[in-house]
Amino acid sequence: MLGGLTADEDVLRAYDGPVPAHVAAIMDGNGRWATQRDMKRIRGHHEGAESVRVVVECCRYLGVKSLTLYAFSSQNWGRPDDEVGGLMTLFDLYIKRERNRLIANKVELRIIGERERLSENLQGAIAQLEADTAGGEMLLQVAVSYGGREEIVRATQRIAREVAAGTLEPDAIDADVLAAHMFTPPDADPDLVIRTSGEFRVSNFLLWQIAYAEFFVTPTLWPDFREPELLQAFREFGSRERRFGHTAAQLEPQ
Ligand code: FPP
Repeated sequence: MLGGLTADEDVLRAYDGPVPAHVAAIMDGNGRWATQRDMKRIRGHHEGAESVRVVVECCRYLGVKSLTLYAFSSQNWGRPDDEVGGLMTLFDLYIKRERNRLIANKVELRIIGERERLSENLQGAIAQLEADTAGGEMLLQVAVSYGGREEIVRATQRIAREVAAGTLEPDAIDADVLAAHMFTPPDADPDLVIRTSGEFRVSNFLLWQIAYAEFFVTPTLWPDFREPELLQAFREFGSRERRFGHTAAQLEPQ
């Protein structure tokens, strides 16, 4: 039983379909949601944070092991100053407001991305909550100031330093070594990537990790993405045949 559940527990209790181990989401459409209502874009982001809370609760309730949310890309720094500032304030607010719920529900928060670009205050608040939620039963990775290409460049630089220091042989570099130098834990790549607002793009999200992920694209805007939409994505995931490069016949039990 989860504490302080705001998601619809009846809907979750009734669900007996497949549950991916690692769910990732590109949370798109906040701006359009607000514009459609003659509101400022930041109101869409605030409503999007409500969807974040609901989706975190649903995933935790249903036994998802990892949830990775794309909250702010490396390229989003180029948005107007008031929107960037409003989003940074929102992240700070989320950390303060959700702190007790994350701890009580054993959700381990980890920020992935170039955190050194965030304000010192925000970095401090993040580090504190990461420490306070460590050892939780579901990993919540929030990608902030994150880019998939930037992550691969950073991993390459770290590997190059190890080679230069003589602690790593060039011939020993393989996919496992690359995976070990990413922000995310190795051997836990996303099974399902959800993208809202109907856009069929990857947008520099987890480029290394999504090699064999299934994609679910929905026209629903992120602030409207709640329990029913998440369960629809899970059902659709369950209908896919995942072959990881093999043939269907190879997957049959022998
Ligand atoms: C993309 O939609 C969304 C973002 C750049 C921000 C995502 C942030 C949140 C969902 C809220 C806070 C998150 C946390 C973890 C507390 P867009 O604004 O580009 O949408 P548009 O394409 O309709 O303009």
